[in-house]
Amino acid sequence: MKTKDTGMALSNLPSSFSRREFIKYSSLAMAASTMPGVITGCAGFKPRQDCLAQLTANPGIRQKDAVFSSARIGSIQTRNRILRSATTLGLAEKDGRPKKELIDAYVELCEGGVGAIIAEVMGVQKNGRGSSTFSSLFYQDDYIQDYRRVTDQVHVFNTPVIAQIGHGGRQTRRAITGEATVAPSPITDPYYNEETPRELTELEIREIIQSFISTIERAQKAGFDGVQLHAAHGYLLSGFLSPATNERTDHWGGSTENRFRIIREIFQGARKKVGNYPILIKISAYDHQSDGLRVEESVHIAAMLQEAGCDAIEVSCGMAADGFSTIRVTEIPTEAVLAFSFRYKDSNPVVKTLLPVFAPLLVNRHEPLFNYNVCAAQEIRKQVSIPVIVVGGIRTLPDIEQIIGNKMADFVAMSRPFIIEPDIVNRFKTEKQQASSCINCGYCLLAIEQGETRCFYGEV
Ligand SMILES: Cc1cc2nc3c(=O)[nH]c(=O)nc-3n(C[C@H](O)[C@H](O)[C@H](O)COP(=O)(O)O)c2cc1C
Repeated sequence: MKTKDTGMALSNLPSSFSRREFIKYSSLAMAASTMPGVITGCAGFKPRQDCLAQLTANPGIRQKDAVFSSARIGSIQTRNRILRSATTLGLAEKDGRPKKELIDAYVELCEGGVGAIIAEVMGVQKNGRGSSTFSSLFYQDDYIQDYRRVTDQVHVFNTPVIAQIGHGGRQTRRAITGEATVAPSPITDPYYNEETPRELTELEIREIIQSFISTIERAQKAGFDGVQLHAAHGYLLSGFLSPATNERTDHWGGSTENRFRIIREIFQGARKKVGNYPILIKISAYDHQSDGLRVEESVHIAAMLQEAGCDAIEVSCGMAADGFSTIRVTEIPTEAVLAFSFRYKDSNPVVKTLLPVFAPLLVNRHEPLFNYNVCAAQEIRKQVSIPVIVVGGIRTLPDIEQIIGNKMADFVAMSRPFIIEPDIVNRFKTEKQQASSCINCGYCLLAIEQGETRCFYGEV
């Protein structure tokens, strides 16, 4: 059954119904709850997590000094090895320019001791916003002055700030972009939802490459210390990399080299324009689709990235169709889904009643909840000499010390811990706290289209 059909059926539910109808609509609700988007399930692949035993096996090599001393990514000198991973804060104007409140939020992070800020993702094209995590844009030169105000203020604190740039690709909706969603190829995955994406033309791919290159130049002019390509989480560049979403049969699809081509061309074009300016990348080292990207292939991709002139690789995982895999949650947040999701918040009372009952039974809660990309990062780090950053469920100082001390990654990055405690790095440094207070409810992400990002601490 197609998602669209299910969606229509659900919105047409009667307000009172017979036993037979109850069974029918229960099944529909169950089917709907397995549909991707905000709520989805994907039994798929699980990567090995054996290496996590190292986090507890060698307490002797905890290295607090290494964590809190300055380190380098290309020409960027970080204050320490704990970075704020790109996190959309919903503090952009309608046209995607930064609000003053964004500067305030970054100042708070600087005062809180962060090693460097990776700014939230900014769309490289006007229609390049993705569904959940894009509110900012940087597709025109006249935005440079706006972002210059952001970087100037962050630099007062001697903190580097890296621009993250991306394109939503297939993970968006017409309501957001005003245009049909785009994808490396038509998507045949019956579990993926939002709207049926259409295939990019050769010309559009060329234009997108150019948009990435121009945005890198803009980021440099705006005073960002470096730029990070968002090639993770199923958005456009990630959509090219994963064999689950890239079904093209031309030179942009098929072999690893072909799926990597768009990224290679961005690096080649950008290097001619910006020289040694730091260009980092965030990738999903694996997804949970049955025919998706695996760590073994990502290790090759990492080597190709290094060869293409990449300055650092941030290792994340997943795509929207996986469900809660990139951003793992303690339990399936049905309350927040019903309250915030564009798909469910106006749904029929029957769905609202049934969803909380069935969703937890049907939707995968990916495990482990903590440090879930560390093993992938470790594998990648063995292959490259450029710095590797790991993100995903990192919550405690002892774990960070082990990750750095055991050389499983060169840097750690966190997102949600900075939403609840922007000064988490200072709390760790002064040992006021050994662990983040984040309860991994995931509500901050689900509420992202409601406005400013904040911590809900599990309460709608
Ligand atoms: C509210 C919110 C917004 C996010 N925005 C972005 C983003 O703009 N770019 C990005 O690459 N990842 C984004 N992420 C994902 C995080 O950077 C990170 O990869 C993920 O949350 C796992 O890390 P954590 O367990 O420390 O939260 C976002 C996550 C949240 C919760």
